[in-house]
Order: sequence, then C-alpha cells, then structure tokens
Amino acid sequence: MAVVVVGTQWGDEAKGKITDFLAEKADVIIRFQGGTNAGHTITVGEEIYKFHLIPSGILYPKKDCIIGNGVVIDPRALVQEIEGLQKRGLSLQALKLSDRAHLIMPYHQKLDELEEERRGAKQIGTTRRGIGPAYMDKITRRGIRVADFINEVTLREKLTLILKEKNELLTKIYKAEPFSLEKMLKEFISYIPVIKPLVVDTTLFIHQAREQGKKLLFEGAQGTMLDMDHGTYPYVTSSNPIAGGAAAGSGIAPAYLDTVVGVVKAYTTRVGDGPFVTELEGDTGQRIREVGKEYGTTTGRPRRIGWLDMVVLRHANRINGLKYIVITLLDVLTGIETLRICTGYLYRGKIISHIPANLQELEECEPVYEDLPGWQEDISKIEEFGDFPWQTKSYVKRVADLLGVEVAIVSVGPRRNQTKVLQDVFE
Ligand code: GDP
Ligand code: IMO
Ligand code: MG
Repeated sequence: MAVVVVGTQWGDEAKGKITDFLAEKADVIIRFQGGTNAGHTITVGEEIYKFHLIPSGILYPKKDCIIGNGVVIDPRALVQEIEGLQKRGLSLQALKLSDRAHLIMPYHQKLDELEEERRGAKQIGTTRRGIGPAYMDKITRRGIRVADFINEVTLREKLTLILKEKNELLTKIYKAEPFSLEKMLKEFISYIPVIKPLVVDTTLFIHQAREQGKKLLFEGAQGTMLDMDHGTYPYVTSSNPIAGGAAAGSGIAPAYLDTVVGVVKAYTTRVGDGPFVTELEGDTGQRIREVGKEYGTTTGRPRRIGWLDMVVLRHANRINGLKYIVITLLDVLTGIETLRICTGYLYRGKIISHIPANLQELEECEPVYEDLPGWQEDISKIEEFGDFPWQTKSYVKRVADLLGVEVAIVSVGPRRNQTKVLQDVFE
C-alpha cells in the first residue's frame, strides 16, 4: 500500500504536520524531491521540529525514513539536521539515504544567489539554497551523487573537474571569488563518516518493503504550483513536487501508487515572486498572515496571502489524481465575517477555469468569487468535526463539492490532537 502526500498550492500547506500524523499508521516514509528549500514544521506537545531534508516520519523511532534519489542533498545541512535532532534525543537509526541522490555543493548556493541578483526585479525569489543549480548539474550530467561522495577517491576526481569549470564560471561570468578545491574537499570529506552509514540502494529497499506488505508514505515537498512543468514557470522550483514525481524520485513503479492525498491550506499562500490571482493586499491578508504565523520556515520571509483558489485546486486535482484532500489551517479563518472562494478567472471578459501557460495572460486574470459566511467561535479545541459551527462545515463541504474530491482530514491547529479524521487514507 502506498500513499502519496502532495501540496496542492504553492507549498507550506502543512504537508509536514499531515505526514507526521499519517506516519503513525505507515511503515516507511519517503521524501522524493526537493532539498533544503523545504521547511516542514511538526509540533508535538511543547516541542517544535523543522525538517528540511529528513522525512517527517522520523519522530517515530522505529519507522524507516528514506531520502530518495530525487532529493538534492546538501551534506552540510544534512549533517546539521542530523546532529540537531540527535541533540534533542531523537534516534536516527532508521534514516536511509539514496546512493543515487545528487549533492548540493557550496558553488550551487553561490550560483543561486548570483543568478537571483543578476535577475534583479525579475528574480524568482528562490530560497537561495542552491536547488536550481544543483538540479541543473544533475540534468546536464555534471552532478556528484551520494555514491561518488562517500568514496574519497571518486569525490576528489569529480570535484577536481567540476570545480575547475565552476570557478571559471564564477570568476569570468559573475566576477565572483573562486572556491578552493582543497578546502572544499577537506570539509566535505569530514562529513563522510556521518553520512556513509545511512547510504543504501533505497529503490531496492522500497521494493522489498512493498513486497513484504509494508505501508509506504511518500512526503512531497513544495506544491503543485511550484512544479517545474505544471506550475507558474519560471516562478517555480526545479523539481516535480507532483504525485508523478514520487515514482521517478524514489524508483517505485507508478502503478504501485495507490492513493494520492492533496494537502489544501484553507486559504492560499505563496512565498517568493510570481503571479498570484487571489492575492489579498489589505487588512484581511495581514490578519491571516499574523494569525496563521505565515512567515517562511526556511527563510523567515513573510508569505503572500490570498483567498482559496479553486482554479489552482482543480489544476492540482487533474495533475495529481487526488483521491482525498486534507484541509489545513482552517482555524486561521476564524473571526472573518465573509470568506471568499475563487471559482474561476475572468480573462478579457470570459470566465476560464484553467491556468493559462502564458504568465502575462495569468497576470491579467481577475478572480471570480463566491462568498460564504464565516464563523466566530474558536474551532481549535473542538473534538468532533460534527460539533463545528455550521459555517465551518459548509465551507469544508463547499470546497469538497467544488472540487469533487472527498475530505479525509481537517486540521485546526499545529498539534496532532488538532486533527479531525473523516476518512482513513490507508483503507
Ligand atoms: P509544509 O511545508 O507544507 O510542511 O508547511 P510548513 O510547516 O512550512 O507551514 C505550515 C505551518 O502551519 C507550520 O508552522 C505548522 O506548524 C502550522 N500548522 C499546521 N497545521 C496547522 C493548522 O491546522 N492550524 C494552524 N494554525 N497552524 C497549522
Ligand atoms: P515546502 O516543502 C514554499 C519557492 C521559493 C521560490 C521558488 C523557487 O516547505 O512547502 P527554490 O529555492 O526551490 O529554487 O525556489 O519556490 N519554494 C517554496 N515555497 N514552500 C516550499 O517548500 C518551497 N520551496 C521552494 O520561495 O518561490
Ligand atoms: Mg514549508
């Protein structure tokens, strides 16, 4: 049995919280794309954890947690994340890293920064973690894979060649400082003893687990609108965060992916630049930002806020084939008198219900809204979904009806007990 959790918007839909919640019933939790651009927050009691590379199943010490081949690994950040969690008393014995995953190196981060600066007003607003340049090297076959990295001889061989080229690029094109090969080698070799014990053929591991009847849970990073192919290109990330990415990014056959669960924030946020049709710039947006603590987990940037957008969600449903949705941060909408849901875009006098590929067209689109009554009661402590105010229930029902997808879970706070299960996704 394999369940894939994906973001349906522009990331930060609370995939981490939902993965942690679902992990209780899973045996293996797998990240399949992205890298340290991801920031997944999990709250357990008074403890808050922020994961960038490690799958959000790690709080259950006995569950296998896999960083798949599709993820790009910054060894520095991985070691920091591992050591940080060990200091908090967590066991990382079940953590496994794919020997086929590619590395993010310091020159990738530098090039990410320099490229953003070069773009000026047209910057993507990346997390500057080197994601784009690392995937670029993977695609253009200049990457260093984990299997190369854990072998000192191969690492030296590869890095000698690559760094020569990168230093030329840095000094001649960007007029920046070159990196020292020996210094970089010394630093990265020091990470090998921490990382090497985690390395396995994760594809083989996943297949064996599946054959043994284990429950697999795939944790997407980012979201559908940040997908390299299906998002608002070029204002996207450099991987495929959609359900299809789980197959390529882990080596599981697509036919074995049983259920796709789309995480839907009850409103919309976007961190970084690019078009955002339902963006709210006034007081309501500011209020949602403060109540929802909408500041980036990875970069601390204020997130842009907007109403829920069904055009985006329909697009996400088509591409991911959602069996269920999970509606998160519903509590944040408490106290707003009238809630709006965007049901279509008005483009040059016509209503459209798809996302235009041309960004100028998308920028011209105006949201068409349906208004729903809000609720005033604090819903974050209500035990049963049935006891929610009728307005909350009708908001949830309206989203499900407009999308034609069943709601499996509703989340009304960051904690595990603020999660209302309406349907078991592993059934
Ligand atoms: P992810 O990247 O999709 O895992 O999401 P993030 O962790 O970046 O952002 C989600 C934020 O919302 C985190 O700070 C969570 O602790 C918090 N959160 C998760 N679920 C809820 C919820 O239902 N209500 C509220 N108020 N906060 C939530
Ligand atoms: P999680 O997994 C929200 C955004 C960046 C930028 C664009 C490209 O926490 O949902 P990149 O550094 O990937 O090249 O940046 O993608 N972005 C995210 N936004 N949540 C994320 O991850 C994101 N990861 C990247 O802000 O707009
Ligand atoms: Mg996040």
